[in-house]
Amino acid sequence: MAKVGFCGSGAWGITLADMISRNGHDVLVWSIEQDVIDALRKNHRHPRFAEFAVDPSIQYTTELADFKDVDVIVECVTAKGFRPVCKQIKIAGLGDKPFILTSKGIEQESGKLLVEVAEDVFGGVEHLGYMSGPTLANEVMKDHPTAAVGASMNEEIALLIKDLFESENFQIYISDDIRGVSLGGAFKNVIAIASGIADGLGFGHNTKALIITRGLEEMKKIAKIKGAREETCDGLAGIGDLIVTGMSNLSRNFTFGALLGKGLSTKEAKDQIKMVVEGEYTVASVHKLGKMFDLEIPIAYGVYEVIYEGKDPRQVIQEILVKGQISAEPTPSRS
Ligand SMILES: NC(=O)c1ccc[n+]([C@@H]2O[C@H](COP(=O)([O-])OP(=O)(O)OC[C@H]3O[C@@H](n4cnc5c(N)ncnc54)[C@H](O)[C@@H]3O)[C@@H](O)[C@H]2O)c1
Repeated sequence: MAKVGFCGSGAWGITLADMISRNGHDVLVWSIEQDVIDALRKNHRHPRFAEFAVDPSIQYTTELADFKDVDVIVECVTAKGFRPVCKQIKIAGLGDKPFILTSKGIEQESGKLLVEVAEDVFGGVEHLGYMSGPTLANEVMKDHPTAAVGASMNEEIALLIKDLFESENFQIYISDDIRGVSLGGAFKNVIAIASGIADGLGFGHNTKALIITRGLEEMKKIAKIKGAREETCDGLAGIGDLIVTGMSNLSRNFTFGALLGKGLSTKEAKDQIKMVVEGEYTVASVHKLGKMFDLEIPIAYGVYEVIYEGKDPRQVIQEILVKGQISAEPTPSRS
């Protein structure tokens, strides 16, 4: 049994804290949301999804110093809050403890993957782990059979991830490619926007399957540049997450894309969503990287042009079809 310090009390955070606690570990949740903590302490229900009964043995705190005796820290905050939380952990003298990431996205200002941000702050990746995959919180809450990847360069930490999260309906596959897992969870948002654009234009499953399949090839090209392995893109944290996000109107990024496809401007679509759309920032960073390394990534460039240059979404989808053909590798060419 491990003593776990858990950062964050959002939808995914509380789902994960509950899973770890039901697996028999001691869980102490740290959060800056006093009202959420009060409700969880009192009713063992999260105010935003009260239908989900949270394990009553979880403890709560607003003081990070209370983590001094924990064996491992697990984080689940927004991509924006990620660096500030890492910094606070370091300042609190907790920076040497095993640290498991479960957030997805990139840092807006630097364009860095979250694992690269953690590496910046803590000065190494050896004590880091990453748990990610096709895991919609509301389906995990309902115990739908789900699987994810537990990645670390340190096998003990990868096995610790398995021990913390794995249950009858939640399987963990071990990997040592922590960068690949971090990339998958970030880049899938770009492809989800493209798929949403196709949906908004009224196109069906054929077009979305095209975008997801070709999007996977683009992910692999970026993986090479980022020092991640292409095979990781073929797994749950890559194509798995691409499918769930690129096919689902439960995804914010997909919905944002659909609004763009329906003819709304970037600002109008964002105003309608009212929440951070991670893919908007990820695509800017991918675009920069792609141009720097002369990558053929037509879907990512197309999404960038729609969002930042106001290009016609229909033209972009048409170009993806043509340019994707040129850069296609595993798909036989038309003859
Ligand atoms: N919701 C899902 O289905 C799901 C599934 C897999 C992964 N994720 C990823 O998990 C992460 C969190 O998702 P969520 O759905 O729980 O989000 P959420 O918006 O419900 O909760 C985010 C949490 O981050 C905390 N936070 C933000 N900035 C902070 C800061 N500076 N200091 C301390 N805490 C801070 C908030 O207080 C809140 O508890 C995201 O990166 C998301 O992409 C979500």
